[in-house]
Amino acid sequence: MALPFKINRDHLPATLRFFGAEGLHFLRDRLLGRDSRAARALAYVKETVPQGDPEGLLRALDHFGREHSFLMNVGDRKGALLARTLRESDAHLCLEIGAFCGYSAVLMGRILAERDGRLISLEASRENHRISQEMVAWAGLADTVDLRHGSAEALIPDLEGPFDLVFIDHWKDLYLPDLERIEKHDLLRDGSIVVADNVGFFDAEEYLTHVRTCGHYDSTNYPLSVEYRDDIPDAVEISVYRDGTRERPIPQPSSS
Ligand SMILES: C[S@@+](CC[C@H](N)C(=O)[O-])C[C@H]1O[C@@H](n2cnc3c(N)ncnc32)[C@H](O)[C@@H]1O
Repeated sequence: MALPFKINRDHLPATLRFFGAEGLHFLRDRLLGRDSRAARALAYVKETVPQGDPEGLLRALDHFGREHSFLMNVGDRKGALLARTLRESDAHLCLEIGAFCGYSAVLMGRILAERDGRLISLEASRENHRISQEMVAWAGLADTVDLRHGSAEALIPDLEGPFDLVFIDHWKDLYLPDLERIEKHDLLRDGSIVVADNVGFFDAEEYLTHVRTCGHYDSTNYPLSVEYRDDIPDAVEISVYRDGTRERPIPQPSSS
């Protein structure tokens, strides 16, 4: 079976430890017939957080992801960077690819609600789409976050932009094709911000080469750790789109 990502070999021992432990948890959950992690995270939120409290909901998910079962949310540290980027921008219309259980949708939605903005979030899994919708509704953000079920590939052509900020966080081998799809459908404007999660933990070389060398982005890398795992390096790439005014840099011959 082909996996939808390549791991970054720079941190191989920590990465293998992570996948070993997670593989065992996955098998245990399957053997015990437990609900999915996203479903258990939603149940935990409903038990512990009152409705209409997005901050409390995010704290509960962070606690669940650290202390109960790992969750593939952007998490508290990388999430703080995403929140700061959104807060410091004037973004009103945002796009997310990959909702999972709705953590980053709530994180962005609570900021956008304060400025009458809107987030469209695309989620390919039917179960995750339902769970993230319930999570967003529990946070009181159903009017701000529009969760759509389907693959980015299928949904992007029908979107109406331009988007002020795009958060890319779905299967890693789709980052570049879906960003190119967004570009092709004119969904970015000069100054649009593209935030890509997990570009240190996974091998995102093709995506990073594109945003760093195609000549349409000012791109910065922020090294941080994997969500809820302080021992495993990860990174977020934040790229600001520049509207076709600059030429593609001429590749320099290597000195060797
Ligand atoms: C890492 S999780 C998203 C985490 C979420 N952004 C957060 O930080 O809370 C990735 C999600 O992307 C979804 N996904 C995978 N491929 C997709 C695609 N082609 N289009 C839309 N969603 C996709 C998966 O079902 C999964 O729920």
